[in-house]
Amino acid sequence: EENLFKGAVGALCLYEKPEMNGAKVVVPVSILKDGTIKRIQSLKVTKDDVIVASFPKAGTTWVQEIVYLLQTGLDFEKAGEKVLETRSPFLEYPYPGLDFVEKMSSPRVMKTHLPYDFLPSNCGDGKIIYVTRNPKDVVVSYYHFAKMFTPLSFAGSFEDFLEKFEKNELPYGPFFDHIESYVRHREDSNLLIVTYEELSKDPRDVIKKIAAFLEKPLDEEDVQKVVMHTSFESMKKNSAVNYEHWDDLGFRNKNESKFMRKGKIGDWRNFIAPDKNKALDEWISEQNKIKFPFVYET
Ligand code: A3P
Repeated sequence: EENLFKGAVGALCLYEKPEMNGAKVVVPVSILKDGTIKRIQSLKVTKDDVIVASFPKAGTTWVQEIVYLLQTGLDFEKAGEKVLETRSPFLEYPYPGLDFVEKMSSPRVMKTHLPYDFLPSNCGDGKIIYVTRNPKDVVVSYYHFAKMFTPLSFAGSFEDFLEKFEKNELPYGPFFDHIESYVRHREDSNLLIVTYEELSKDPRDVIKKIAAFLEKPLDEEDVQKVVMHTSFESMKKNSAVNYEHWDDLGFRNKNESKFMRKGKIGDWRNFIAPDKNKALDEWISEQNKIKFPFVYET
């Protein structure tokens, strides 16, 4: 079968940890071979650290910027000085890398797309925020990203991509195992689960919830400042979070979408035809064993 990922990420494989609730995840072979996955598990987490975890395209960047602001006492200036990748490093990505993460001082805001059972083994000492989103919008966003991001350079159609999603062959899949791995810990006091949909519909409320969870309560005026700074329109224009620096680094296929693409709930309707949607709903209800309540638009 032809590999439709034409970028440098290379071969993918299913990494399993049968001893951890049968945990499994699709990752590039390279991050297994170079020891990244093992190193992440032994990373020392402190009580002030926050890990923003998600399946790709669920709203990670949005939550990372909110958390960064809260953790720095709303230092908007500092948030504008450097790109998010260095302020809130992505653990399994070579840039800025785990050496950098280890040297950073707490409180750190880290990002990962790994399921719960692959997090640093003492992640319970810090705080974790899991972001999730309607899988239909995830797959649409992921498709555009996979075509745009040169290391992936997906060369197939949307239908090809959706098929890979349903076969659990995309990086960080299976999607429902991912959610389940976090939902299993939903009663832990150091884990907060937020959805893209609730953040879109009521950013004030979710920002307050995140602030309370991080023990950094805000007054109404400050909440409003965070809402404004992290709106889709502001983030799209903000070069510290919109990933436009990737253009210069050669990470974006320039005829494809931008990282800050639409920022909407329900864009799947523009890509998934009604008959396909019916089959997808069946697949979802079959896979969604824990019945995680996605916020579907009617
Ligand atoms: P779309 O492709 O649907 O526009 P991640 O950060 O996990 O990679 O997710 C990226 C998705 O979140 C993209 O979705 C992006 O546009 C959207 N996004 C990023 N910041 C946002 C914001 N402030 N408000 C709404 N959506 C945002």
